[in-house]
Amino acid sequence: MALLETVVVAFWAMLPAYVPNNAAVLAGGGRPIDGGRTWGGSRILGDGKTWRGTAAGIAAGLLVATVLTLFAVDVRGLTGFDLPTFTPLAAVGLAAGAMLGDILASFLKRRTGRQRGAMFPGVDQLDFVVVSLPLTALLAPSWFFAVFTWEVVLVVVVLTPILHVTTNVVAYGLGLKNEPW
Ligand code: CTP
Ligand code: MG
Repeated sequence: MALLETVVVAFWAMLPAYVPNNAAVLAGGGRPIDGGRTWGGSRILGDGKTWRGTAAGIAAGLLVATVLTLFAVDVRGLTGFDLPTFTPLAAVGLAAGAMLGDILASFLKRRTGRQRGAMFPGVDQLDFVVVSLPLTALLAPSWFFAVFTWEVVLVVVVLTPILHVTTNVVAYGLGLKNEPW
């Protein structure tokens, strides 16, 4: 696969995992998942992880997977790239895994004394990859290993932090997010 095609396939395959975080920022608010509970003097997750944000994030990821699946044949024809469709389990793994990774990162932040919104370099940028890829491999193994070749995984690991930093700086600039990370 040529580099451009690998990059486009990686972005396409990861889009159902990329969108949930942004949708959660837009829809977030209301009751925190941890219900305000603490553990060891710190919040379990914090006010930044809400039921509404999480549900909206997963729903947005599933919607994106559905739309990409509907357009896959057309976009394949236009680009000549071998773009995948998404099975329901693959979509769930990517979307729910992204939200779960983000929640797990907040759990780790609170355990390491970081307040809500604090930066955690590396974790902030790759938390959703670290959970969404293994979860998808578990839920939809044959889909996962057909789509996520080692080249695609490599591109995802390089591309994701760049996209994450860019979208967060833009969201911060637009006043949608409180911090640029
Ligand atoms: N958000 C949400 N539910 C989620 C994830 C995010 O409601 N599961 C919303 C919250 O309003 C949150 C915002 O999106 O404040 C930004 O997300 P994020 O940067 O992940 O949260 P932080 O507020 O920075 O909190 P943390 O330090 O725990 O990451
Ligand atoms: Mg944050």
